[in-house]
Amino acid sequence: MKVASIILAAGQGTRMRSSLPKVLHPILGRPMAWYAVDAARQAAQSQPMLVVGHGADAVRQAFGDAVHYVVQENQLGTGHAVMQAESLLRGQADAVLVTYADMPLVTAATLHRLLQAHAAQPGPITMLTVMADDPRGFGRIVRNAVGGVQAIVEEAQATLEQLAIRELNPGVYCFQADWLWDALHRIPISPKGEYYLTDLVGLAAADHLPVQAILAEDAAEMLGVNTRVHLAEATAIMRRRINQRWMLDGVTMIDPASTYIESGVTIGRDTVLWPNTYLHGSTQIGEECTIGPDTIIRDTRVGSRCEILAAVLEKAVVEDGVEIGPFGHLRKGAHLAEGVHMGNFGEVKNSYLGPGSKMGHFSYLGDATIGVDVNIGAGTITCNYDGQHKHPTEIGDHVFIGSDTMLVAPLKIGAGARTGAGAVVTKDIPPNTLVVGVPARPIRKLDEAK
Ligand code: UD1
Ligand code: CA
Repeated sequence: MKVASIILAAGQGTRMRSSLPKVLHPILGRPMAWYAVDAARQAAQSQPMLVVGHGADAVRQAFGDAVHYVVQENQLGTGHAVMQAESLLRGQADAVLVTYADMPLVTAATLHRLLQAHAAQPGPITMLTVMADDPRGFGRIVRNAVGGVQAIVEEAQATLEQLAIRELNPGVYCFQADWLWDALHRIPISPKGEYYLTDLVGLAAADHLPVQAILAEDAAEMLGVNTRVHLAEATAIMRRRINQRWMLDGVTMIDPASTYIESGVTIGRDTVLWPNTYLHGSTQIGEECTIGPDTIIRDTRVGSRCEILAAVLEKAVVEDGVEIGPFGHLRKGAHLAEGVHMGNFGEVKNSYLGPGSKMGHFSYLGDATIGVDVNIGAGTITCNYDGQHKHPTEIGDHVFIGSDTMLVAPLKIGAGARTGAGAVVTKDIPPNTLVVGVPARPIRKLDEAK
């Protein structure tokens, strides 16, 4: 069975009260619509078609060429939205999966179950339904005397009796393609002036065609996001889901409730996450690390066996066996090679620290390249900015920088050199040379480095 999928994302989302299109509101680091796109792609095994309209440019920017697009110029309802895809998809597939971009919790497995049911028992419509006590504005499933699905009634049009129905429409459908493209043109205009996709159910029933309803196994998947209250609820469920997945994959969380992992993050086995840890964006953490408490890591690659305590890491690379913190800050372009020790109150920006180098206390390194086994004394600062330009600092292998040294860039410090405490280094230092004072002067040649 060849399946095309359509995801409706053209609505404004008025109830969000936002200048951002609803479907771009982020959930765990990704636009809400990303989840519907991902699930549909996996289940249908084809590139989904996103129907865009409100904020179309921003939506296109967010999804790039990950999806096909069709524009719904005027948002005349969900049925009208699907109709926009007809010219592109007619004749392309046997079945059409339709979902809404504001349903981020529906999983690929659930969609897969729906498609299987459709393939097993062909009919014009196979759809999910959900039983819930809180109707949250969902359409009600109206059944006939023998239990067949007869219609979906939108809340605004429902009678008091219909409002009491607990079986709801989550908005996840699989249509027989040829039937769909014809039936869409028969949808009557609603009292609100819209063409409701949900009216297709009534049309099928009127044609005496069976509508197959599959009850959703997990009602929590069927949460639609219409307001920011729903957004917070969906985020909480997604967060638990992600945390559970990593725990089942071998990650220890001391307190999952205070651990925040975005959906693009990966974590290796036997890593332990302490409370108040936030892993954002494309962060990758290796095995056997200890992260947190109180740590924020964004778009950073961390190797294995690292210990990171109360630190903030952004767009950085940390190799195996590195220790950071408490209170360390890696900024964009920081790269700590294997076995680096970075103690408290350090900041590193756009700099490389070679294997085994140590900066224990109160230092700033910016635009610096540091060799192997270098000691950066307490209070060392690279003075990399002269008020107009940034300048580089190069420090060779086995250099010993004394406490409170100011390194006025641009600067090259040869291998095996040392600076005395409080030195203000303004000129390059040859290898194996000790400099002291303000401005620093060479006073002695040192033995060749170990
Ligand atoms: C819809 C269903 C309702 C169901 C609920 C489940 C209809 C008529 N109603 O109601 O039965 O219980 O979802 O979540 O389908 N959209 C477009 N173009 C439009 C209108 C909407 O692309 O012209 C998109 C929106 O961006 C959104 C989705 O379709 O992603 C659903 O629209 P929304 O207005 O949220 O529908 P509901 O009122 O939630
Ligand atoms: Ca909705």
